[in-house]
Amino acid sequence: MSILIDPKRSIGRIDPKLHGQFIEFLGECIDEGLWVGEDSPIENEGGYRSDTLRALRMLKPPLLRWPGGCYADTYHWRDGIGPRADRPTTFNENFATYELDHHGFGTDEFLRLSEMVGAEPWINVNMMSGSVHEMRDWMEYCNRSQPTDVAKERAANGHPAPYGVRKWGLGNEVWAGGGTMTPGMYLDEYRRYSSSIPSFTTDVFAQSDIYAIASGPDGNKAMERVKWTRDFFAGLAEYRQPKINGYDLHFYNWNIDNDADTPTNFDEQGWDQVIDGCLELEDIIGEQWALMKEGLAGIPEPEGPLDSKLTHVDLIVGEWGNWHKQAFFARPALKQQVTMRDAITTALTLDLLQRNCDKVTMACNAQTINVLNSLILTEGDSMTLTPNFDVFMMYQAHRGATALDVKRQDSQDDDIFAFASKSADGKTLTVNLTNAHMSDCANVCLRLTQPAHVESISELAGADPHLCNTVDNPNTLRAHPVDVDLAVTEGSYADGTELNIAVAPASVNVLSIRLE
Ligand code: AHR
Repeated sequence: MSILIDPKRSIGRIDPKLHGQFIEFLGECIDEGLWVGEDSPIENEGGYRSDTLRALRMLKPPLLRWPGGCYADTYHWRDGIGPRADRPTTFNENFATYELDHHGFGTDEFLRLSEMVGAEPWINVNMMSGSVHEMRDWMEYCNRSQPTDVAKERAANGHPAPYGVRKWGLGNEVWAGGGTMTPGMYLDEYRRYSSSIPSFTTDVFAQSDIYAIASGPDGNKAMERVKWTRDFFAGLAEYRQPKINGYDLHFYNWNIDNDADTPTNFDEQGWDQVIDGCLELEDIIGEQWALMKEGLAGIPEPEGPLDSKLTHVDLIVGEWGNWHKQAFFARPALKQQVTMRDAITTALTLDLLQRNCDKVTMACNAQTINVLNSLILTEGDSMTLTPNFDVFMMYQAHRGATALDVKRQDSQDDDIFAFASKSADGKTLTVNLTNAHMSDCANVCLRLTQPAHVESISELAGADPHLCNTVDNPNTLRAHPVDVDLAVTEGSYADGTELNIAVAPASVNVLSIRLE
């Protein structure tokens, strides 16, 4: 298997926000997983679990989406502000969570968490049981610097300075749990909500400083998603264009048609099915991007001198991850274990998002803790980092780097996947080599079009693809450094450097290569 990397063949800058995370009031993602409250016997920093917080500080997620998801469609933000003892108790039915909801973790707790871990917050507003008025007040609470009543309320709740939340999602999965709307219904609602967004700049000539995100299609439904995007963008072209900056596609790698396949018990067919399933997202991104461009091209020139024409909308993948069937029956809701099968699909999904950085600007793994494609699992006072956590950590060097157009030079081994980026200073390549074969190792020949040497290799692999990290054995699957001198042999390549490396079965490998 040989791969050619030319550091001059760039695709574009990898927006760090492609490494975003999604946290929702669902199962034990937030309550128990992240937030235990100040009086908990579990060690905490002002209510945030200390162990989870430590992990998130290491991860430094560039983007954090909250409060949902489906939960956002019935969330009233005022339930989650002010003294915790005065907050209401409601019932959380989402995805059969079936727990009392004490609203201990609300807007201030979320935004403080974002500050603590260095993430840009993305708040999703309630477009189903909420109102335009409620959305406006929420934005005012988070962002108004002038001493209005709602800004004074924020100050009284401990944060005098505005939080400056720029990313706001208007509706979530509005075609399903968010209102079972048609594209036409949603457009009408979207127009109402988006035209009511307040501005937080006092420069009359400036555009509104809020980044408005529209609910995109159900990525898992081929015909529906094409129709949704076509109709939505055709509707945008009618009359005046509403404010829209991003379009949020959701895609889950469903693994639900084989009852015998569980997150930790699968055969080779089940392995291949899940690996192949995650790769579908790349074609969907291409398809959606083409439809969006087609729709934008159909927007007529404005008639009035003060009107501007909508020419660009960012494509976002606001929810992605593996969804195994067992998660539906899991307690806590949607909790599933993570093996190398999931770690590999996480790596391949990040690869394809990064490779499409000229189209996709933000993406969120669903979800960070105890739900679906988790990076962190908790059980009582114990915390385990899944191998997905390691993948995100191994990939940190790609944030802000330039994605390169990597070429396969033969088609011998379809299970090897490669991705490469060049650091902002142009001196270092970060190369991912993923061996998605369940049991075979592979020899990879990397050709670089200039002199270079490998500085380090990090490998994530297990002795058996069914293994996972547990409370008793938390480090079964952990990324570790590989001795470069033992792992790499140099071949001869007249146009630059040839590096030969053997990669373990079911493994994710990240090489740091210094250009000379
Ligand atoms: O991530 C779990 C759920 O999946 C979210 O609440 C919803 O948006 C999606 O259907």
